[in-house]
Amino acid sequence: MCGIVGILGREPVALALVEALRRLEYRGYDSAGVATIESGAIERVRAEGKLRNLAERLHNHPLQGHVGIGHTRWATHGKPTENNAHPHATAKVAVVHNGIIENFRELRDELRQRGHVFVTETDSETIAHLVTDNLNNGLSPQEAMAASLPRLHGAFALALIFAGHEDLMIGARRGAPLAIGHGQGEMFLGSDALALAPFTDTITYLEDGDWVVLTRAGATLHDGTNRVVARPVQKLLASSQIIDKGNFRHFMAKEIHEQPEVIGRTLAHYLDMAHERVRLPFELGFDVASLPRLTISACGTGYLAGLTGRYWFERFAGLAVDIDVASEFRYREAPMTPGGLMLVVSQSGETADTLAAMRYARTQRQHVMSVVNVPSSTIARESDIVALTLAGPEIGVASTKAFTCQLAVLACLAIAFGRARGLIDDERERQLVRELIAVPGLMAEAMTREPQAEQMAHMLSRARDVLYLGRGTNYPLALEGALKLKEISYIHAEGYAAGELKHGPIALIDETMPVIVIAPRDHVFEKTVSNMQEVAARGGRILLLTDAAGAKATGLDLKALIMPDMADEFTALVYAVPVQMLAYHTAVLMGKDADQPRNLAKSVTVE
Ligand code: M6R
Repeated sequence: MCGIVGILGREPVALALVEALRRLEYRGYDSAGVATIESGAIERVRAEGKLRNLAERLHNHPLQGHVGIGHTRWATHGKPTENNAHPHATAKVAVVHNGIIENFRELRDELRQRGHVFVTETDSETIAHLVTDNLNNGLSPQEAMAASLPRLHGAFALALIFAGHEDLMIGARRGAPLAIGHGQGEMFLGSDALALAPFTDTITYLEDGDWVVLTRAGATLHDGTNRVVARPVQKLLASSQIIDKGNFRHFMAKEIHEQPEVIGRTLAHYLDMAHERVRLPFELGFDVASLPRLTISACGTGYLAGLTGRYWFERFAGLAVDIDVASEFRYREAPMTPGGLMLVVSQSGETADTLAAMRYARTQRQHVMSVVNVPSSTIARESDIVALTLAGPEIGVASTKAFTCQLAVLACLAIAFGRARGLIDDERERQLVRELIAVPGLMAEAMTREPQAEQMAHMLSRARDVLYLGRGTNYPLALEGALKLKEISYIHAEGYAAGELKHGPIALIDETMPVIVIAPRDHVFEKTVSNMQEVAARGGRILLLTDAAGAKATGLDLKALIMPDMADEFTALVYAVPVQMLAYHTAVLMGKDADQPRNLAKSVTVE
């Protein structure tokens, strides 16, 4: 979603702001802008569309200020036009904002009555006028912020600069992340550590409700009650600083190919490979054996990882699992037995609905555990237990390596829970761990199937609709395949449990409809063959992802992508590779931007 950068520098900052914004491009945006203070006055340049448009404008209209803020906007209130782009400004203050101001209409009406004139359709402009109103009453910028923040309802991260103040920037966070970067005689603000990485490796994350006053000499942090507080200064991990595509055309392709490595790394974190045991890198702090229920909630791909995990928690640990998308769960008022476990899954750790679902669970006296990729994220920080996925920064909007790392972590947790609940003995644990240890190698082998996936993508690129079918843990993977295809190629795709075919979707089947069947030769394979026969009988065009034995056993005339042989339990991890490749190559063949699909944001910090 939107990205924020602020620099209190020693030389003109506009171009550095644009460079930093480039590192936030992956979050998704549709307009951008920067503002600086020049000779005491606010100057800004904004542009619709990509950052190259903003860079071009800045080339024709350079900004010279040494203090500035920049923003990439993902439109929520009002179209993605230049006029609605941030920074929003009055003569006294310029602001960039991530999130949503829920009470902006009331505030706008009130401020209009006091003579303020609004020129955009955005909620964010209200912040500039509210702060200006307080400045007009004779308050200092700091006092104006302290007076304005309690009046804003909703979720936000903010950065503001003030006319006449060339050594001042104020940031605030409620609900959306914001970090301070500490330099030598320079200070920075960023909605994401990635944006700050070129400037400094020393950062401080604001806690929820905090606001900060920055000068070149340092930062003064306040909590939500305006008390001055200290927050830890941390070193950025080197991995946060590396974001390039290597030899790949897109981040998505690079991230697909990184999977054998990052899955290996993640598994090494959770397994004692020498003794073939699961070894959780944290104390659970509750008794797994007496856990009444597990509730899983997440959004998008994280939800589908959770849905896969449900099969493992039920089968390995005999644990009753409730799972729902977070946007529904948070408002369902689901009664939860105290002492249960809430497990949320999120790559970014900032997804607004997932965070709200997790907070609801806490009110229901649940233990709260998260599977997250960003250790400093809000979800990680609010969890009792954080199970990290070590996927490294995922830049492509379509989740790939984060998804399979989530699966790997969920599989390890389910085995550990199974052992704690007495359903898994030593021998079974060793067998399952051996199967997991084999996964990175099998994924590497699956990578070699890319030419076949690309060939199949030609057929998909001509389709209007595509159906994905799977059973067991490959049912959530069918849903994930459909999600991946639609988000980056814009082809309509649906995922179904193969057994549901004849309960409705079979009506769609004809010779124009590709049906992707994910069916390794496992314990439900024969059932899926029956479904394939039903498709074939109606002229549907089947693309089958299976192993050599599976391809032979169907007896049908179809296109098959032959995957390596493997044991049953963790096929979803390995079959995710061709599923991702199919979507990726289809999008590329259709000339779509696989990394930054239209309308989508990487981190969805509004509900
Ligand atoms: O950061 P999160 O994992 O919480 O994000 C959840 C979804 O927004 C995300 O998985 C989304 O569905 C991806 N674009 C899927 O590729």
